[in-house]
This record gives sequence, C-alpha cells and structure tokens, in this order.
Amino acid sequence: MTPTTLTITRPDDWHLHLRDGELMAHVLPHTARCFGRAVVMPNLKPPVTTAAAARAYYDRILDALHPDLDFTPLMTLYLTDATTPAEIERARADGVVVAAKLYPAGATTNSDEGLTDLVRARPVFAALAACGLPLLVHGEVTDPEVDVFDREAVFLERHLRPLLDAVPGLKVVLEHVTTKQGVDFVLQGPPTLAATITAHHLLYNRGAMFRGGLNPHYYCLPVLKREEHRLALVEAATSGSPRFFLGTDSAPHVRGAKECGCGCAGIFSAPVAIEMYATAFEQAGALDRLEGFASRHGAAFYGLPPNRDTVTLSRRERSVPAAIAAGPAGDLVPPGAGATLGWELDTPAIGGLPGGVVAPREKREEPRRRMPLDRSEFPL
Ligand code: DOR
Ligand code: ZN
Repeated sequence: MTPTTLTITRPDDWHLHLRDGELMAHVLPHTARCFGRAVVMPNLKPPVTTAAAARAYYDRILDALHPDLDFTPLMTLYLTDATTPAEIERARADGVVVAAKLYPAGATTNSDEGLTDLVRARPVFAALAACGLPLLVHGEVTDPEVDVFDREAVFLERHLRPLLDAVPGLKVVLEHVTTKQGVDFVLQGPPTLAATITAHHLLYNRGAMFRGGLNPHYYCLPVLKREEHRLALVEAATSGSPRFFLGTDSAPHVRGAKECGCGCAGIFSAPVAIEMYATAFEQAGALDRLEGFASRHGAAFYGLPPNRDTVTLSRRERSVPAAIAAGPAGDLVPPGAGATLGWELDTPAIGGLPGGVVAPREKREEPRRRMPLDRSEFPL
C-alpha cells in the first residue's frame, strides 16, 4: 500500500542559487523551511571570487535568515582565469567555503568571468585536490557550433575526461547532469566523481518548454532534454548509488526577466522542490530511496555528517502557487504553477504564513554563527 507519510533525515540542497539583497531575503525561507544546508552558487554580480567575498556573502545570508529557521549555507568560490592556488588555500582555511565552481566563460547566467582555458587552470585544480575541496562543474561547452542539446555530452569528452586524467584525486561534481551520456560518464568514472540531479530534470522533458505555447518558466541551462534522458536521470537518482544526489539548481529570476524578448535561464523550484522529488521517486516506485538521494549521499561525498533531525512529507494535494511575491522587482513563477502535487512538506507556520513559509524579516539582532565544516573523513 502507498504510504501516506514519509519521514526522512532532513535533506540538503547541494546546488542552489540564493542571489543577494532583497531577492535573497524573499527566496531564502523557501529553501530553509526544508533543507538543513545548501551549497550556494557564487554567480552573483560581481561573482564571489575570493575567500573574503565568500565569507561576506555567508554573513549576509545568515543576517537575512529568520531566527526560527536553522539553516547553514555552504559557500563556493567562483573560478576565473585570475584565481590563484593561494586563494583556494585561503578559502579552505577560512572554513565557510566547501567547493569551487567551474563555469566555462559564457555558458550560463553571470558566467562571463568564468574560465576560458581549463588546461591553464590546472594548478588551481591541483590546489583544490591538495586541500580536499571538490570542483563543481557546469558541464557544457560554449562552442556555438555545438547544438544546445549536445553541449553536455560534448563537454564530457572534450574537457571533463582530460581534466580528470590530469588531476587524479580531485573530487568533481558534474552539476545538474541532464543526459544519459552524463549518467554513464559518472558511473564509469572514479569514485571521486559524482553528480547532482535537479527535480525539474527528473519530472520534465523538453516538451515542457513548448506545451500550450512557448513557456519560459521551463527554460534553464543545461536545457531540458528528450524523454530518454529524463528516464536515465530517474534511473540514476533512484538507483541507490551514492554517486547521485539532490541539487535543485533553483535559480530565481523575476517574471519580467523570464517573460521578455531574451529571457533568463533558470527555474525557481525551491518552494516545491522536495515535493517534486517525492513525486518523481513515487512515480518510479522508489520512495524508499529518496532519503539516500536527498539526505545522505551528498553529505557523504562532501565528508560531512548527515543532518540530525528529520522532515515529514504527507500525501495530500498541494496546489502550487501561480506566483510568489518577491518585492518590488516582481514576482516569481515556480514550475507547475497552478497545478497540484501529491505530496506536501509538513512545516510549522513559522512567521505565520501559509505553508510555513516565513516572511523576509528585519535585520536580526544577533545572527547565529556556525561553521559548516565539521569534516569527517572523506569516505570514498
Ligand atoms: O538555468 C540556469 N540558471 N542555469 C545556470 O547554470 C545558472 C542559473 C542562474 O544563475 O540563473
Ligand atoms: Zn546552477
């Protein structure tokens, strides 16, 4: 019989865009109501390229956090052609940075200052390997000759394989893997190679962008792929393999930046993320594997303990809001807006808002300060 509730160790989000300023204050509670920790992407304007900038961003996130929510941001460093091994060591020593992010220059939102030459950056990758920090990879080529649907598959052979061969021992996460080729690449790679999988790539194929007309709220990068790729991702996520774990890639852009002549890439899944994952796992008959994927595999890969508390999902219809207010810049449209999901996270009504989502708050008197890196031995 289908269970009516599901209690799992509190999950973590191993790939998240929180933005900054007022937008961050609006989106942060949607993640913190559910996830204990999140790996926060550094593609701000300007990008988070130094240990000091990562620490300052970490402080701003905690300043914006509602005091009733317990959430730890895990910070990342944005790699540019100018990043030095010394900056990697500084970031490692400071303690709030858990990884470095490789954006191929021009691959996606705010990636213009990303890497232009992965061979020249090898001393930086070696520094990451030496201090045990993972490299998080946006795995798409920027070559305009390569079809947008093939950019991930081409990146694997053209760039990722040589990189893994050149820096053995480097922990690498192929972020938001979207293809069967990507899944196979991870499974055939060394145990130091893993991948995150988004909820939207598990639930939707590329048809979602065109259903009933062009729908920009399903446009993200890497772009949604064919059904055969979605099925490969579902198989990987529900396989029980510790090489695959949850990373929402929730990437808010206000409505006006999506519904326009040149809309931004990004799907704002945070308000419905764990419910979307539960739906995908249930469809695959694998609800018993959700906890490993959402709450254990990522922590183990990063050498961190799992969260100590739990969350409960209940089997009831949850209608996805048509839009979510995000201040004067405009509202945000989540995936599945206006539809219903079969699962809902049980949360106390912190801040008194429906669904337990809290309002952005005034600056906290005494922000909590907690070091994220209680490192246990890397188990792989
Ligand atoms: O869809 C995406 N949105 N993909 C990315 O890689 C970046 C992200 C963003 O920051 O908006
Ligand atoms: Zn991302």
